[in-house]
Amino acid sequence: MKSYNLLLSFAALLCFAPVSAQQQSPQLGKSSIDEVLQAMTLEEKITLLIGGEMGGKATTIGATGVTQNLVPGAAGTTHAIPRLGIPSIVLADGPAGLRIQPTRDNDPNTYYCTAFPIATLLASTWNTGLVEEVGKSIGQEVKEYGVDVLLAPALNIQRDPLCGRNFEYYSEDPFLSGKIAASMVRGIQSNGVGTSIKHFAANNQETNRMATNAVISKRALREIYLKGFEIVVREASPWTVMTAYNYINGVYASESRELLTDILRNEWGFKGLVMTDWFGGQNAAAQMYAGNDLLMPGRPYQYDEISAAIHTGTLSEKDIDTNVRRMLQLILASPRFKKYPFSNKPNLKMHATVTRQSAAEGMVLLENKQNALPLTDSIQTIAAFGTTSYDFIAGGSGAGDVYEAYTVSLVEGLSNAGYHLDKSVSNWYEQYIKEQTEKMRPMGNNPHLAFFNHPRMGEKVPQKELLEKSAETTDLAIITIGRNAGEYVDRKIENDFQLTNEEHALIQNVCQNYHKKGKKVVVILNVCGVVETASWKSLPDAILLAWQAGQEGGNTVADILKGTVNPSGKLPMTFPIQYMDTPSSTNFPYNYKADPEQIIASIFTNRGLKHEQRNVDYTEYTEDIFVGYRYFDTYNKEVSYPFGYGLSYSRFYFDNPIIRQEQDNYTISIDITNIGQVSGKEVIQLYVKAPIGSLPKPKKELKAFAKTKKLQPGEKQTISLSIKTADLASYAEDKQAWVVDSGSYLLEIGNCVADIKCSTQLIIP
Ligand code: BGC
Repeated sequence: MKSYNLLLSFAALLCFAPVSAQQQSPQLGKSSIDEVLQAMTLEEKITLLIGGEMGGKATTIGATGVTQNLVPGAAGTTHAIPRLGIPSIVLADGPAGLRIQPTRDNDPNTYYCTAFPIATLLASTWNTGLVEEVGKSIGQEVKEYGVDVLLAPALNIQRDPLCGRNFEYYSEDPFLSGKIAASMVRGIQSNGVGTSIKHFAANNQETNRMATNAVISKRALREIYLKGFEIVVREASPWTVMTAYNYINGVYASESRELLTDILRNEWGFKGLVMTDWFGGQNAAAQMYAGNDLLMPGRPYQYDEISAAIHTGTLSEKDIDTNVRRMLQLILASPRFKKYPFSNKPNLKMHATVTRQSAAEGMVLLENKQNALPLTDSIQTIAAFGTTSYDFIAGGSGAGDVYEAYTVSLVEGLSNAGYHLDKSVSNWYEQYIKEQTEKMRPMGNNPHLAFFNHPRMGEKVPQKELLEKSAETTDLAIITIGRNAGEYVDRKIENDFQLTNEEHALIQNVCQNYHKKGKKVVVILNVCGVVETASWKSLPDAILLAWQAGQEGGNTVADILKGTVNPSGKLPMTFPIQYMDTPSSTNFPYNYKADPEQIIASIFTNRGLKHEQRNVDYTEYTEDIFVGYRYFDTYNKEVSYPFGYGLSYSRFYFDNPIIRQEQDNYTISIDITNIGQVSGKEVIQLYVKAPIGSLPKPKKELKAFAKTKKLQPGEKQTISLSIKTADLASYAEDKQAWVVDSGSYLLEIGNCVADIKCSTQLIIP
């Protein structure tokens, strides 16, 4: 601490140094990186490697010596060294849009960002082109608000349905996660700003997230938990990678040279910068040596640790020169270095349209009995049940949250679409919501609590008379079920994964009353992740999984209900019948009681590796590679909805699969015809069944996918999917290598893991 403070006072003095002395120093951008590096003092080097504290504030060394405000609400900045022409750059969250403060002191302007759909919804589109377009829009906001690196996308595997941050992640499948994340990175970075793919790696639970040890076989690590990152690094060259908080097999992810240098850089060819997650890891010198170049948000003691390690020789100045060089490269590429004149006026109007359209492709139609949807013209008046119908959830909480100007609720969306809402039901809900809001207690005064997910109000079944009257006078009932989650805390089974007793009663009562009158009921799931559906899904006529669709949510749902958009979303994960059916469930802290104050305290305390409390101090990934459908499908375990599942208002015919080989590349073409009555899109999923070989394999593994264009009734499109021999490999731990067994591989093509339409074979000699 002492030397850091000394440095700062010395630096403050430096700002009075004669201008000519500054002019003689090499300047970043004008001189080569090596020249700048050579001119840097050890103090300057270390200072550059630790961030500039939280909140968009940068401590400027050598210039004004004071803290500057760059972009309020950003997650962090780096240190500037004006003597060498090195500016601070700004890093901000997060996956569903840019997260900055929407208003500023003494400033009448607003700085709202667009709340785009959550990552899980985007993965449910299975549309890489569309996700790239969303990325372009997000990147434009990043650039126009003066931010250099967006701390996104997040692509940890949805190993367990209860992980609190699953909404920020894409899928239980690494291939889908990797392809969608690569598109997002390409889109964002096309603006000339950076991304930070996170959290590298195996950050699959929030419980004790800063010190939990993920115990994983090398094979599962490679095939499941690293694969998505590998795809993004190889295909989209993200500017930066953010390391995970957790330990992996006893080593902090941010301190693992094997992970950050041997695998990420030497094997995959990553050329960018690695930064920690905020306050992550323990030993600053070990982080530097591992190849974790930037410590965020930057703590004074980290300066001392690195300095001491260099003085005692456990770390060499040459080691940190490598880290510094990467910092300089990143800064050189940044809009701030290029003095980009950001406008603070991104195209929010256009991005609202992008949000509405992209969300429509990721909503998943789970049930549609007797074509309850799309609504016919005879449906004019609708009764909206469930508090969430009136208070739609745009996205999750914590770093993944966005400050948007508005969120269109379901009732607003319905009335924008021309439907009349039943006044007595709406009035009842408005009154109930008002009463409940007054009763809800704030979580506490600690500012960190703002990051936590706040409990939602419970449901109540409206009285019998009101239900009878609305069933009599309206044409349709809609019930919205809401769920939210976020950083720090994992979800629970009761009253979270499972519906509450009141929610069950609401669905039962509304269905009973409406069905008695021959009228239909639609359930909308405005949720952050998987919920239990098996026990109640037979009751309503249709179920639309709307996810958290961003700020235009209510309009998007109305687009689908009305049939303006034909749903084409497919599940990026399995919906189990019960939570305990999930292969990870016995090795997940599903019954851990989190204390928010204790969690906050743990961020700043010393965290050692412990092996006391199972699933808290350490979590054994005993399911190995059999995550999600790899388990359910292989072991014929019944599910509520399988991976890849989703209905359409149309039907599609899969025909004529042809396989062509060109050396190590295989192209599989297939004809898809819309044989329904309305236009729509279909997702084509290619699964591979490997021959019996040296390692146990799942029954099917997703190896390619594509989405058709919008096909008119009767229209046909030939879709081409390609795979390489290397895509068929498994990681053999004994050989420490990827191995492709010879034999006959069955290629199965369908629109869901459980609905294979046709197949073909390829032989690997
Ligand atoms: C989260 C990261 C985020 C960072 C900065 C951390 O708490 O885990 O995902 O980017 O904060 O806000």
